[in-house]
Amino acid sequence: MNKDLEQFERRIIVTGGAGFIGSNLLLLLVPKYPDYLLVNVDCLTYAANLSNLRPIENHPNYVFEHVNICDRSGLKECFDKYAVDAVIHLAAESHVDRSILGPADFIDTNIMGTFNLLELARARMEQKASFRFHHISTDEVFGSLGETGYFTEETPYRPSSPYSASKAAGDHLVGSYHKTYGLNTVTTNCSNNYGPYQFPEKLIPLIIRNAREGLPLPVYGDGKNIRDWLYVEDHCRALDLVFHEGTAGKTYNIGGSNEIENVVLVRRICRLMDERLGGGKREELIEFVKDRPGHDRRYAIDASLIQRELGWKPQHSFDAGLKATVAWYLDNEDWLDNCISGKYLKYYEEMYSNR
Ligand code: NAD
Ligand code: DAU
Repeated sequence: MNKDLEQFERRIIVTGGAGFIGSNLLLLLVPKYPDYLLVNVDCLTYAANLSNLRPIENHPNYVFEHVNICDRSGLKECFDKYAVDAVIHLAAESHVDRSILGPADFIDTNIMGTFNLLELARARMEQKASFRFHHISTDEVFGSLGETGYFTEETPYRPSSPYSASKAAGDHLVGSYHKTYGLNTVTTNCSNNYGPYQFPEKLIPLIIRNAREGLPLPVYGDGKNIRDWLYVEDHCRALDLVFHEGTAGKTYNIGGSNEIENVVLVRRICRLMDERLGGGKREELIEFVKDRPGHDRRYAIDASLIQRELGWKPQHSFDAGLKATVAWYLDNEDWLDNCISGKYLKYYEEMYSNR
């Protein structure tokens, strides 16, 4: 290994570091761990934005590699070049509605891309037996809850969408590499994140953008589907803890204990925007539209394992987090406007025009 690399205590590939959660994670880890080299491996899909990483792009312990995780030889070059000893794997096709329009990219990235990373990690175990592999996943693998109950680490997998099925396949592959090859894995299954840098295909930034423009606010079905929201910084703090202290082979659920019906959430965003911007009641823009096929009714996480074992708990209340999020998008209108490309408008038309 060359001297420049030897100066780093750890050399970690973070996949998907230019996306929403990946950017927030790198903005936390790069300044916090100057002795780690953090290599952001991202192929820059529509959901990526390297400008998120401007505050850290010149840090000596950060580097960006424009690589697709489906390209095994490109990935191998990265593993070799940086003598990597850990992976934090976030890269994914992440949007449920897009997986319904066209599942192929989800199968490629979320299953085959994960498989490529696991194979390279397995090969690196020859040099580094304790090679750490942290797989970032979702509560959607569990399917839908009824009116009561919570997802625990023991809840059986019942994915509903091509997105969640592809994530479930990735989770199972990761589990199998621990059991079969002894790879030092951890998997985290988190609920819905919100906060800065989220692409406006997801509910919260989409509603903020539409409400700002005076466009209809599309709420699927009867609006009573429930999601359990977690501020992205709290998720990133949990990832930091699990990466360092999580038990090999285990999975950890992460959630904010903030269950809310979609329509109630949309009304709250409207009220926050009314307070900031004035100009009438934005909730009058709400339109109930045709439901998402296979739409899971309710998600709710039991996060007691990570709380008990690793001492994690969320620091942001939903009220404060939502207020900060609305403020962030309104204060960063250029960021939001840059997402609204021709491609976005085409997607929006395809997704919403016949609902
Ligand atoms: P995102 O869509 O905002 O970002 C995904 C990133 O992965 C982008 O930068 C994209 O360019 C990159 N990427 C996609 N395909 C790639 C490929 N083939 N090769 C290399 N890079 C590729 O996603 P997100 O919301 O930040 O989610 C990150 C991870 O967290 C995903 O694995 C997702 O399943 C999981 N997750 C997300 C949430 C949520 O609420 N957003 C909740 C739980 C778990
Ligand atoms: O639960 C974790 C998951 O959360 C992650 O694994 C996914 O990557 C992430 O995209 C998110 O999935 P959801 O499908 O829950 O998020 P989304 O923002 O697309 O939708 C949230 C809820 O709002 C869901 O019940 C569908 C509804 N919805 C969404 C959109 C985009 C609407 O009613 N109208 C909309 O326009």
